[in-house]
Amino acid sequence: MAIVLTGIKPTGDLHIGNFLGAIEPALKNAIGQNSYFFIADLHALNQEKDPQKIHQYTLSVAAAWLASGLDPQKIVFYRQSDIPQVSELTTLLAAVTQKSLMNKAHAYKAARDENLQKKRDPDAGINMGLYTYPILMAADILLLQTDLVPVGQDQVQHVEITQDIAQNFNRTYNQNTFTIPQYFIQPDLATVPGIDGRKMSKSHNNTIPLFTTPDIWEKVVKRIVTDSDISDPKNSPLFLIYKAVAPKPQSQNLLSDLENKRIGWKEAKDRLLEAIITRFGDMSQNYFDWLNSPQKIEAIFTQSKEKVIPLAQKTLESAQKACGLIS
Ligand code: ADP
Ligand code: TRP
Repeated sequence: MAIVLTGIKPTGDLHIGNFLGAIEPALKNAIGQNSYFFIADLHALNQEKDPQKIHQYTLSVAAAWLASGLDPQKIVFYRQSDIPQVSELTTLLAAVTQKSLMNKAHAYKAARDENLQKKRDPDAGINMGLYTYPILMAADILLLQTDLVPVGQDQVQHVEITQDIAQNFNRTYNQNTFTIPQYFIQPDLATVPGIDGRKMSKSHNNTIPLFTTPDIWEKVVKRIVTDSDISDPKNSPLFLIYKAVAPKPQSQNLLSDLENKRIGWKEAKDRLLEAIITRFGDMSQNYFDWLNSPQKIEAIFTQSKEKVIPLAQKTLESAQKACGLIS
């Protein structure tokens, strides 16, 4: 059975686009595989310096995935910083990684380009954690001898860098220490529009929150932009959001009711609100239950740590042997 692994950065609140475009497909894809999902809290340190927030986001993002259907009996769900071997392996990998490989990594390049554009020192505000981000990510992946890394388009380059690092290590020490991982991008994922019709994104401030209460959803749904007349319902943000949320027969009904002017936008918004509550209402309740029981989340992390550490230690030792640290 293939070993599948993916990391989740503990950053802010999630929206329904994140669920439909990332969380749900990742969970579906994990079924029947030997799957490991983890909260990448060490990676988050590069961005977030408030210790309370690191702690809080780790719990809230874990709660979000658990409420979304991650079954910790089927998927090993752990916290990156619970596995000390991740940091140890990072050091060994750094020794075989050319600096030029890091210069090419897009997160670093984007930060550097922005500095140049604003006529600042090219390295202003860039910490070494951001610069070596791909090495830590390679350690995450290689430590568990991962075959497959499901990722979004923006992470493909990081997996390619991981392949390079693994090949360099294997070649340098003339050993097959690491499995060379492949990335996996879910095909045909639709982009969910936001309430203003652009792509739903936290940076556009146009999101429908994934976990909230019906009164908040109602307020957000009311703000979805609509034309003064109903000329092209098929391409309206309201219908496209409905289509992403509701079962197919229901979205066909809504479309035909709008096209034939049997209903107006007000009724369509009422139906969307209902569809959102049906799809995400119980899940939201579940999310708040998890958030209120952080000790249950900690218990999952403790259990997973016991499963992951022996596997991680085995790979670490074979890497240590390969490079002559132990015999
Ligand atoms: P945001 O654009 O809100 O900052 P992220 O870039 O953090 O979202 O995306 C996290 C994951 O959610 C990615 O895998 C991304 O492809 C998915 N995602 C984000 N927005 C959407 C959307 N509007 N439709 C479908 N998937 C999305
Ligand atoms: N870099 C990923 C992101 O920003 C998170 C991540 C860390 C990850 N380690 C990983 C993803 C290992 C896949 C495999 O989303």
